[in-house]
Amino acid sequence: MSPDTIKAPRGTYDVLPGQSVARAALEARARAILEGAGYERIETPAFEHTDLFARGVGASTDIVQKEMYTLTDGSGRSLTLRPEGTAPVCRAYLEHGMHKRPAPVKLWYLSSFFRYERAQAGRYRQFWQIGAEALGSDDPAVDAESIVLLCTLLAELGVGDVRLRLASLGDADSRSEYRERLQDYLQTHSDRLAPEVRDRIGANPLRAFDSQHEATRAVMADAPRLLDCLSAPDAEHFAAVRELLDAAEVRYEIDSTLVRGLDYYTRTVFELTSDALGAQSGVGGGGRYDRLVEVLGGPQTPAMGWAAGIERILIASGAADQQAPAAAVDLFVAFTEPHLRARAFALVQLARSAGLAAQMELAGRALKRQLGHADRLKARYVAILDDPQSVLKDMQSGRQEDVASDAIVHAVLRGLRDMV
Ligand code: HAM
Repeated sequence: MSPDTIKAPRGTYDVLPGQSVARAALEARARAILEGAGYERIETPAFEHTDLFARGVGASTDIVQKEMYTLTDGSGRSLTLRPEGTAPVCRAYLEHGMHKRPAPVKLWYLSSFFRYERAQAGRYRQFWQIGAEALGSDDPAVDAESIVLLCTLLAELGVGDVRLRLASLGDADSRSEYRERLQDYLQTHSDRLAPEVRDRIGANPLRAFDSQHEATRAVMADAPRLLDCLSAPDAEHFAAVRELLDAAEVRYEIDSTLVRGLDYYTRTVFELTSDALGAQSGVGGGGRYDRLVEVLGGPQTPAMGWAAGIERILIASGAADQQAPAAAVDLFVAFTEPHLRARAFALVQLARSAGLAAQMELAGRALKRQLGHADRLKARYVAILDDPQSVLKDMQSGRQEDVASDAIVHAVLRGLRDMV
C-alpha cells in the first residue's frame, strides 16, 4: 500500500464481511425481546441541532464540552452528530405528538453515535447502541421492566459476569439540597482535590465521585451520599423499584457513588458492567429522566430508558471474533466460451427469480479456474454452458449430466428438493 493511501479515521472501524452476521443476530434478539415487551422501533437523524444536546444532555457534561462533533452547515446553522439517543427520541416524541398516545410510549433504536473520545479497545468515536426508552409514566414498574429487559438481552446474547449497580438520584429538590451539602463538603476539602474536580465544584460537584485522582477518592470516601438525602416520595419510588427487581430475582448492588455522564437523570439510575471486558467495562446503562421532555419544551413527562453499546456486547459475548460461514451458493454458472456470457447472465437471473442463490463467472477466468472458483464458493451445483449442450454437475456426489440450458433451473430445484 502506498504511504498516502487513505485509512479510516481513528476511533472508527469497518464491519467486514463475515462480521455482520453476529451483528444481525444481535439485532434479531434485541428486536424479539423488545418488541415482545411492546417497544416499537424508532430511528432519528444522525445529526440534530446542537442546542438539543446542549440543553438535553447538559452544558457542563464532558459529552457536550469535549466530545461532540459539531459543524456549521451551508446556511450557518450549528449541527451536531448525535452523541447519544435519548434527547433525539424525546425531540421526536414531541415533534410527532406521541405525548398524546397512551402512556407509556415505548420506543427502541439501534443506531450509530459519535463522540470524540480517546479511542481504545471497546471505545470508539463512532459506535453503535441499542437503546430503549419508555415515556409518559413514573410507575416504578416501568423502571424495573426496563432494567430486566436489558439484563435479559445481555444474558441471551451470552454476555457473562454481569454486575448491575443501582442508585437513585431523587428529583430536582432532593438533588439541589444534596448538591449544596456536597458543595460545602468539597469546599472544606478543596486543597486535596484534583484541579479539574475543584474547578467543577460549582458546575457539577457530582462528577467528583468519578475522579481517579487518589487524594480526591480518599476525600470522596467520606462525602455525604445522595441516597441518604432522598425526599420521602423519591425514597418510596426507589424502594418500589427494588422490590420489583427482587420479585424478578434480579441481582443488583446499591451503589451510592454511581455517577452517569449525562445530566438529565432523576430518580433511578443504573449501570451494567461485565468483567469479560477490560478497562471499558460498561456494557449498558440508563435511568429515569423525568424532566428532559419539559426541558425540551414539552409537557411534564416522566420517562425511563437505557442504552447498551453493541461493540461491547459483541466483545463480552465473544461474538466479535466469530467468523460467519460464507453464504450458501445453490448454483454457479460457468461457461466455456466468452460468447456464452449473455446466456449465463440470463440463466442466473432466471435461477434467482426461482429463489435460488446463484452466481456466475465474473472475472474472465478460463474454464478450469472457473470450476476451482465454484469449488471455493462451495457451490452445490455447477452449470457449464457450452454449445449446443450444457452440463450440470452435482458437486456433492460428483455426478454430472447433459442438460438443455432451459432445463437447468428445474433440475437444480428438483435436486435440492430431493435432498430434503
Ligand atoms: P451512556 O452510558 O453514555 O448512556 O452510553 C451507554 C452505553 O453506550 C455504554 O454503556 C457503552 O456500552 C456504550 N458507549 C458509550 N460510549 C461509547 C464509546 N465511545 N464507544 C463504544 N461504546 C460506547 C447513554 O448514551 C444514554 N443515552 C443511555 C440512556 C437511555 N439513558 C436513558 N435512556
